[in-house]
Amino acid sequence: TYVVLENCIACKHMDCVEVCPVDCFYEGENMLVIHPDECIDCGVCEPECPADAIRPDTEPDVEQWVEMNRKYAEIWPVITQIGVPPENAKEMDGVPNKFETLFS
Ligand code: SF4
Ligand code: F3S
Repeated sequence: TYVVLENCIACKHMDCVEVCPVDCFYEGENMLVIHPDECIDCGVCEPECPADAIRPDTEPDVEQWVEMNRKYAEIWPVITQIGVPPENAKEMDGVPNKFETLFS
């Protein structure tokens, strides 16, 4: 499965949902997550993210994000169309510790 990582928080560009063939992105206020049981591992979303926030779960140190994606994909509504990203999405790219400071 692919997984949305911390840098999506407050960037939320949503280009990823436009390309997913199985509509497995789910939308929170500040970020999206991928449902790990629905993702078919096609990989097309990874290069679409301007914030470089999508990776395969085979990469090192992404385990906590796989769990986080699973948890919130069960709670949040599905998103199938791109919306309007936050105004300061570009400025928020790469800001550290977003989960602790910005996640809600
Ligand atoms: Fe969707 Fe493919 Fe990305 Fe999985 S890897 S979330 S199926 S676009
Ligand atoms: Fe987030 Fe990148 Fe999608 S910032 S909403 S994972 S395009």
